[in-house]
Parts: sequence; structure tokens; C-alpha cells
Amino acid sequence: MPDIDSIVARAEAEFASAADAAALENAKARYLGKAGELTALLKGLGAAAPEERKRLGAEINDGKARIESALEARRAGLADARLNSRLAEEALDVTLPGRGSSRGGLHPITRTWQRVEAIFRSIGFDVADGPEIESDWYNFTALNNPENHPARSMQDTFYVDLKDGKGKDGGLPLLLRTHTSPMQVRYARMHRPPIKVIAPGRTYRVDSDATHSPMFHQVEGLWIDEDVSFADLKGVYVDFLRRFFESDELQVRFRPSYFPFTEPSAEIDLQFASGPLKGRWLELSGAGQVHPQVVRNFGLDPERYIGFAFGSGLERLTMLRYGIDDLRLFFDGDLRFLRQFA
Ligand code: PHE
Repeated sequence: MPDIDSIVARAEAEFASAADAAALENAKARYLGKAGELTALLKGLGAAAPEERKRLGAEINDGKARIESALEARRAGLADARLNSRLAEEALDVTLPGRGSSRGGLHPITRTWQRVEAIFRSIGFDVADGPEIESDWYNFTALNNPENHPARSMQDTFYVDLKDGKGKDGGLPLLLRTHTSPMQVRYARMHRPPIKVIAPGRTYRVDSDATHSPMFHQVEGLWIDEDVSFADLKGVYVDFLRRFFESDELQVRFRPSYFPFTEPSAEIDLQFASGPLKGRWLELSGAGQVHPQVVRNFGLDPERYIGFAFGSGLERLTMLRYGIDDLRLFFDGDLRFLRQFA
């Protein structure tokens, strides 16, 4: 007669000493598995006498239940232990001092952009946004810039070669816009007068020196109504400059110039009031009365509608505001420079 109690005792001892789940399952197989000790006993029951069989069967089943419950208990114990050790391993010491966080800041060009928007919004201008990859038509043709006109090559930029699957040109020539002026046409074709809008954004040209970079920012301004004059341009623009620079002592100069899309045209210069370039003039903006042909391209009657446009460099405004002498500093990403504006 097999000693069930001692088998159970051995099983319990083996389970208790199983160091992990794999060892535990191996130990289980030795008792309850197909070739396990208890399984073998159950299989042998057939050979016992009927009386004996009943008693033995009950005893073996009782042993099996005890081994199973010992197994469950050990399984739970091992799982607990695993969890506890993970918790201990991953514990955070919340009393440790922090590593400190550094404060970010806005790029000086972003600050200028936001100031310009705030000032123009306050006098009723809408703010519009448009594509940097522009069609030749909006960038040049609609702005009265005939093909082969020298002003076109002066601004020649990065053309985008869009081919279709067969290697043919997809359609209209596309380029990185050389100025924000195409936004005059885009906006005016979508709105009815009075049209009063600024359009700030990135622009691109084949240019690189202390006051030019291949990518730079402009803000376009456009005011079209039945009686908007050059005097309004001067009034609005000088007022903007006074508010932007927080000064009434500005030296502003409207210098006669030429743009195919304005007539008359001017360049607006401002004198540095501080910094290494103090006293020097910097061109800030092109401007003028919108050319009648461009008003026609807006889809409006130039006999009825008239107004002004300007396009100003955001880098230039920023240089003048802080007395910075080299525009390339804006794009070097040098924290020693940028921190001064944070
Ligand atoms: N688009 C011109 C330039 O980039 C500036 C300009 C804008 C001039 C609007 C006149 C009117 O140089």
C-alpha cells in the first residue's frame, strides 16, 4: 500500500523549494503529470480488489487535491515574489532633488512676427497665410511681371520640377516664392473690397550676405478700397513703425523705386538707432500704390478700386529693433545669441 501522505509531503517540500515558475511546473509534472507518481497510482487502481479500490481511490484523490492546493499556493507565492522584486527594482525615490528644467524662449523672428500681427490686427487688418511653393503666375505674371522682364531674373529662385509619371512637366512651373506679394492676388481674388490684410511668411531667393539669406521672412500688406491713397500708406506704415519700435523719434525715409506691381513705388528705409550700425540706413520695405493691371488681376475694376501694398522684411525689422548687424545670426541656432531674447 503506497504511502500517500509521504508522497504529498515530498511534493509539498519540492514545491516549496522550487525557485521559480519553471522549476515549480517541473515538480508538478513529477506528481500530477502523465508519468507522475500519483497518476501512476490512479492507473494501478484497476488491479486492486473492488473493496480496496474504492478506499484507495478516495485516498489518492484526496492526496491529489492536497498536492494541487499546495501547487496553487506556491504559484501565488512565486507571483507575489516576482511582483515585489519588480516593484523594488523600479522604485522611484521621489525625495531626490529634480534635475532642473531649462526655460525655452521664442525666436526673435517669431517675436517680431507676433508683434506685427498684433499691431495690424488692432487696426482692422486680417491675417492670411499662403503657400511657399507658388506658381509662376501668382509669383510673377499676375504681379505684372512679364516673362523675360529683368526683375524676374533678379529674383530668380528655386524652381520645383514637377514631372508626371511619363517624365513630362506636370503643368504650371512652380517655384519657392520670392516674396509674399503673390498673397495680394490670392487674397484679393477670394475677398470683396474693402480688402485689408497682412500676410506674413517665409520667402526664398538666391541671395546670401550679412543682410540677405536664401530663406527669409516678409510680411505683405494690402489695403484696397475706393479711395486709399499713397498718403494712407505713409500714415499707416509710419504709425506701424512707431508702435513696433515704441518710439516717435524714428528716422524713416520713403525713397522712389520701381516694382512692376506698384506705381508709384517706394522703398522704405529706417535708420538704426542703436547697435554697431547706429546711424546707418537699412531698407525695410518695398511699397507703393497697386498697379491698375494688378488690380485688374485681382478681378476688380481699377477705375473704381485703388490702394497700397507693402512688403517688409521681418529679419530687417528685428535687426533694427535690437541693433543686430548680421542677419545670419538668426539662423545659426547659437544659444548664446538666442538666449538674449528669451
Ligand atoms: N515684393 C516686393 C519685394 O519683395 C516688395 C513690395 C511689396 C513692393 C509690395 C511693393 C509692394 O521686394
